[in-house]
Amino acid sequence: MAKEINTIGVLTSGGDAPGMNAAIRAVVRRAIHNGKKVKGIKRGYAGLLDEEIIDMDRFSVSDIISRGGTILQTARCLEFKEDEYQQKGADICKKHGIDGLVVIGGDGSFKGAQKLAAKGINTIGVPGTIDLDIACTEYTIGFDTAVNTAMEAIDKIRDTSSSHDRCSIVEVMGRGAGYIALWCAIANGAEDVLLPERFDFDEQQIVNHLIAGQKLGRNNHIIINAEGIGHSASLAKRIEAATGVETRATILGHMQRGGSPTCKDRVYAATMGARAVDLLCDGKSNRVVGYRHGEFVDFDIDEALAMQKDLDEYQIELAKSLTTTR
Ligand code: ADP
Ligand code: F6P
Repeated sequence: MAKEINTIGVLTSGGDAPGMNAAIRAVVRRAIHNGKKVKGIKRGYAGLLDEEIIDMDRFSVSDIISRGGTILQTARCLEFKEDEYQQKGADICKKHGIDGLVVIGGDGSFKGAQKLAAKGINTIGVPGTIDLDIACTEYTIGFDTAVNTAMEAIDKIRDTSSSHDRCSIVEVMGRGAGYIALWCAIANGAEDVLLPERFDFDEQQIVNHLIAGQKLGRNNHIIINAEGIGHSASLAKRIEAATGVETRATILGHMQRGGSPTCKDRVYAATMGARAVDLLCDGKSNRVVGYRHGEFVDFDIDEALAMQKDLDEYQIELAKSLTTTR
């Protein structure tokens, strides 16, 4: 029979995402509801190695559900990729009586969770990243808020762009993942979108598209550029030189990662955090919570990490076909 869990630890790792606090709150309160003790580990795996571990009670997570960021803070800790530090992390968990651990983060964080599980700490991953780039799940904590933040910003840029007959290049987050860019392309009705997964775009086609739009009487042109493609300022200069249309670049940056989470991010994050605790209480380990086909589910971490994900070709085609000039 699986050993009963007494104390559950929780940490956030990798880039922060709106809704992480809702997940932390759910972990803490669900665990206490199930009769467990809870310890918060600050600053991800870096804080674990530094033993930045705090006791948490119901009141530690009061009034945080509406706040962006993560009250536990987060970090990127390169040394945790090495076995020596993973063993140190597992030993520190044991020293503090942490026999179950919830890791809220992305694929990288799940690799750390997988290693801790292999070293005897029952560990469950909860998908937290604004990038939506975790293969086993159609939902990740923070994407909904981030994409809405980007969408609202792009609407504002469209207003001023049309007043000045300009072309605007708006760079959104996503170094390796174009989900925010693609969703905004559809939601903002952008004329063009550049995606890191399809980096071999044809710049001349964008120029031709802008000129075709002008001929049809369009007074603005929005190009959404993902961070992974980058170089928005130099692209703006080249487009202006090739078309004669005044072109401005705006990099939205980290404002997309902050802010109060949407209702969806609060509810889904709360559900996933609670499910992670339920899995630990059922004696499960090395699993990751996900959302697929309208249901909350969980997968073995090894299987989840082996899954592949790509942008939806239909959505890419849709974004193109709904513009005025195609
Ligand atoms: P995300 O979790 O959002 O994918 P990162 O890729 O930056 O973000 O990973 C977050 C942290 O997870 C890293 O800083 C590191 O501490 C840990 N991590 C990443 N890859 C591994 C790995 N292969 N083994 C153990 N830990 C890892
Ligand atoms: O958390 C995901 C993400 O925001 C990516 O979209 C982006 O490429 C990266 O993190 C930026 O990370 P940093 O915090 O190092 O600027």
